[in-house]
Amino acid sequence: MEVIIRPTTEEACLLTARVIARELRDKPSLVLGLATGGTMERVYAHLAQMHREDGLDFSLCRTFNLDEYIGLTPEDTHSYRHYMNTHLFDHVNIDIRNTHLPHGTAEDLNAECQRYEALIRECGGIDLQLLGIGQDGHIGFNEPLSALFSRTRQKALTPTTITQNACYFGGDPEQVPRRAITMGVGTILECDRCLVLVTGDRKADILAKAVEGPATAMVTATATQFHAHCSVIVDEGAATSLREKEYYRWLYDNEPEWAVFREGRA
Ligand code: F6R
Repeated sequence: MEVIIRPTTEEACLLTARVIARELRDKPSLVLGLATGGTMERVYAHLAQMHREDGLDFSLCRTFNLDEYIGLTPEDTHSYRHYMNTHLFDHVNIDIRNTHLPHGTAEDLNAECQRYEALIRECGGIDLQLLGIGQDGHIGFNEPLSALFSRTRQKALTPTTITQNACYFGGDPEQVPRRAITMGVGTILECDRCLVLVTGDRKADILAKAVEGPATAMVTATATQFHAHCSVIVDEGAATSLREKEYYRWLYDNEPEWAVFREGRA
């Protein structure tokens, strides 16, 4: 794992978008794992702008989202399908048939979870998985005590997550669905590369636990420590509680892998 600290939220989001864009240019048929939530909105805005202004090409790209609420139709404005369409898919030249989210209204939800896993496998697995971290340390909707080998399945949301996401439901926690389909931690860890984005000082303590704390199913983001290629991009606010900040700053300033980004060549 490597942690990259950028001075502002905007710079952290832009760097994340540039990493995705570079992977997409290197492999136009990229299988991209996507996340929703407030943190990712600026990343998707940057990707849409790169498509508009620099011709970033999504025509061969295939996407798999981490999760979807159970009980919401794709047309529901609170669904993650709606989020993805409005924040990214409607603004780039992706073939909408190549964009996948679990179906939260499937008649047989367990069969839907298995279908989703099979589809990821059929596409050859996920090349790059974008991840955010929830207030309770979740990745996807893998809430505390999710098995670190878990697969795509139904999961009940914790009160912390319901409170965190109430802002997207008019501020009313009662409106937030209680359950979701989520890729499992094991499913996520099979991707070739993890790209985690965490911004804002309200995430500082959970970020420190996620990257510097002991691995535990109580904070499923700690599982990313086991991934062979995991980059965690954060802003100064989120970095506040990290112990090894100086080392992380040195990494971005010196490691050859980041030179193309430092020098504005990607
Ligand atoms: C949503 C997802 C979640 C979010 C996390 C952070 O698809 O995967 O794990 O990334 O809850 O959400 P925000 O960005 O709203 O703080």
